[in-house]
Amino acid sequence: MKPMRLDKYLTKVHNMSRSEAKQFIKKGRVRINGVVEKRAECKIDADVARVELDGERCVFEEHIYRMLNKPAGVVTATKDAEEKTVMDCLESSNRSLFPVGRLDKDTEGLLLITDDGELAHNLLSPVKHIDKCYFALLDGPVGEKEEKLFQEGLDIGDDKKTLPARLVPAGEQTGGFGVYITIQEGRYHQVKRMAKAIGREVLYLKRISMGSLKLDEELKPGQSRPLTREEIDGLKNRV
Ligand code: URA
Repeated sequence: MKPMRLDKYLTKVHNMSRSEAKQFIKKGRVRINGVVEKRAECKIDADVARVELDGERCVFEEHIYRMLNKPAGVVTATKDAEEKTVMDCLESSNRSLFPVGRLDKDTEGLLLITDDGELAHNLLSPVKHIDKCYFALLDGPVGEKEEKLFQEGLDIGDDKKTLPARLVPAGEQTGGFGVYITIQEGRYHQVKRMAKAIGREVLYLKRISMGSLKLDEELKPGQSRPLTREEIDGLKNRV
C-alpha cells in the first residue's frame, strides 16, 4: 500500500474528521512504533507501521464491507431527494460507500454495502453467474411444472430468456405460498417478472444469499454489521 499521511490514516481507521485527527495528533495521543508522533503530515506505511491511539492499536482496513438487512420502504441508492435510502440505514462514513446491486423498494434482505469497486464489479458481472437466492411469497401454489419452466429459462419480455433458475416450493404460509428462488443474473425486477411469466404474483420478497454470503438472521430489518474475514474471503474467492 502507498504511504499515507498520518491524519488521513486516522480518518480511515476511526471514521473521524481530518480536523479531529489533527487534534489527537497534536495532543500527543498518537504513537507510531511506540514513539509519540505530533506531525499530522508524517507519512506512514499502513502495512508495517504499528499505530496506536490512546494506547489502542489501530487496524487499517483498505475497504469496508457491511451486510445490511434492507427493510422494505427504502430505496437502493446512495442519494435520493425524496426517499429514505439504504445508506440512511448506516452510520455516516467518510468512505465512498455504495450498495452492490439493487433491491426494489418493497424487497427486504441481504444487501452488501462497500467501497470495494472491484469486488462489486465482479459480483455483478453477468459472466460470473453469481447465485442470488430469494425467499418469496406467491399468490398461488407452484409445483413440478413451474420448477421445470424456471430450469429451462423464461421469456420475461427481454431479448433473451433468463438463465436457468431454481424454484423450490416451501409450502403454504401466512400471507401466501412460500418458494425459494435462485437466479444467476440481476435483471430489473427479475424475480417478479419470472413469477409473472408463470402466472403468479410476488406478494413478499426477501433476498437471503448472494454467492457464499448469507443474510445473518440475527440482523433485524434496518440493521447492519461488518462482514467477517471469512465472509470477505469467501466472496473474493468465488469471483
Ligand atoms: N427481483 C425482483 O423482482 N426484485 C428485487 O428486488 C430483486 C430481484
